[in-house]
Amino acid sequence: MNLQANSWPEWLPIRSELSDLKPYGAPQMIDVTALNTNENPYSLPAALVEEMLQTLPEILTNLNRYPDRDANKLRSALAEYINTSSQSYFSAKNIWAANGSNEILQTIMLACGGRGALGFIPSYSVHPLIAKATGTSWKSENRDSEFNLDLAAAKSQILQAKPGLTFVTTPNNPSGSATPFAQLQELAEATRSINGLLIVDEAYAEFSDEISAVTLISKYPNVVVVRTMSKAFAFAGARVGYAVADPALIDAMLITRLPYHLSSATQGLALVALNNSDILLAEVDALIAERSRVASELEKMGFAVVPSSANFLLFKGFTEESAIAWKSLVDSGVLVRDVGLAGYLRVTIGLAAENEKFLAAIAALKP
Ligand SMILES: Cc1ncc(COP(=O)(O)O)c(C=O)c1O
Repeated sequence: MNLQANSWPEWLPIRSELSDLKPYGAPQMIDVTALNTNENPYSLPAALVEEMLQTLPEILTNLNRYPDRDANKLRSALAEYINTSSQSYFSAKNIWAANGSNEILQTIMLACGGRGALGFIPSYSVHPLIAKATGTSWKSENRDSEFNLDLAAAKSQILQAKPGLTFVTTPNNPSGSATPFAQLQELAEATRSINGLLIVDEAYAEFSDEISAVTLISKYPNVVVVRTMSKAFAFAGARVGYAVADPALIDAMLITRLPYHLSSATQGLALVALNNSDILLAEVDALIAERSRVASELEKMGFAVVPSSANFLLFKGFTEESAIAWKSLVDSGVLVRDVGLAGYLRVTIGLAAENEKFLAAIAALKP
């Protein structure tokens, strides 16, 4: 049951700062082509499913036991993956893993949110929501009209507000735009000068050509990179996200994580996925190629598309308002995301046939 804002019963002692909020979530519909939650459209290859099935008997037999509380094997495998993809030298001590990167963000805010947080919008709207839920005060500053960071402004906003946590999402959701590495380095410097963390949310990193901020961590221990297996790894249903950070921050997160938070099934299946990362990540190039194709088809129709380094596109130029355009796409059997930016909609890149269906439906709304 979803109660309307402000209609909580009197007997329910919901915290006052939460009483106006609605639960986060995109509409879930059946019988539509769902291009609204930035999932990877490829299902796991049969060989991998088979390998996962082979790990199940041991996992299931031991379900009477709690899982490895510190997920040591999984953290080592994640460190190896990051080291291979970013030529770095992390160990399990630099990694924390949880049920999706959202849980990682929550654990960080619970541990280090005391001096408040700053973010640059439009961006991932769950950041301020988790801030509210964890009692972390939140300040939003604006990105420029093309959804990029205004670096000079961002630096002075950091120096002025002195937040404990500064969030940068790159590639950004919902715009898809990536923040250049040199700018991240300047933000690392600015946040370090106020003894604050720079939280770089890299949920879509594998779809981007930019250098990952993980390479900043050895010089700037105040940088924490948040990653996920939900997107490039096509593993959203398993719920695995992780942080790459200085061991001091991981130690702080150990205080606020729930004991035994990551099930033995999740840990075991994620290990198989990471051992086969080359197979799982093979589809990333195909999605990038589809991203270019869909963007150029939209542009040919007269839509304006924000350059994207992620697995989705933000575009504008319909004859109708976004909400009306969204509804008419739903009526054509295609579910995209109305991200609340006037005039824009966001579409996730799907399989070629799904993208064709979207392009056919959006053609009816072209400028
Ligand atoms: C920028 C960003 N960060 C984090 C997440 C959360 O991902 P998950 O909790 O599945 O790891 C998402 C999901 O869409 C996202 O777009």
